[in-house]
Amino acid sequence: MRAVVLIGFMGAGKTTIGKALSKKNRIAFVDTDQKIVEKAGMTIPEIFAAQGEEAFRQIESQVLKDLLLLSGRAVISTGGGLPLREENRRLLQRMGSVVYLKISPETVLNRLKGDNTRPLLQGPGGRERVGELLEAREPFYREAADFILKADGKTVEQIVEEAEERLGEQL
Ligand code: S3P
Repeated sequence: MRAVVLIGFMGAGKTTIGKALSKKNRIAFVDTDQKIVEKAGMTIPEIFAAQGEEAFRQIESQVLKDLLLLSGRAVISTGGGLPLREENRRLLQRMGSVVYLKISPETVLNRLKGDNTRPLLQGPGGRERVGELLEAREPFYREAADFILKADGKTVEQIVEEAEERLGEQL
């Protein structure tokens, strides 16, 4: 698999940007969360509730390994916690170009207001919880990424164009 992989926090727009990038460049699109749901036969909140985060992470790593074995080109959007495992970061590097879509805690909060599909952001905490989680993850996103695209306040078209410029021949 020769891929462009989008990583970043929940609400960064990985799926939206990934779909737009794949459509414009006529290459396949894969979403790791979608693959996990298909593999488990359950939604993500159901997996977390029934089996816990660790089981979810096991499936996530397995999905990544399965993708590495495929041939062809693709744009892959990933779940926000996927780059946390060292094993996954190594797999990402072997897959192709890794783009970190970076957003601020404010953008996360604005975009995910009222969302009930992200088990890790349920319950109290709000701004503080998002800020802490984002800060803790930032080094892993940076380590896994070939480059960073700042996404705050930009349209999908702007981000897609910037990604295309940075990726050049690799798309
Ligand atoms: C997670 C992000 C989610 C999903 C799961 C865990 C995380 O994906 O994989 O809820 O740990 O950040 P999105 O980044 O697409 O929301």
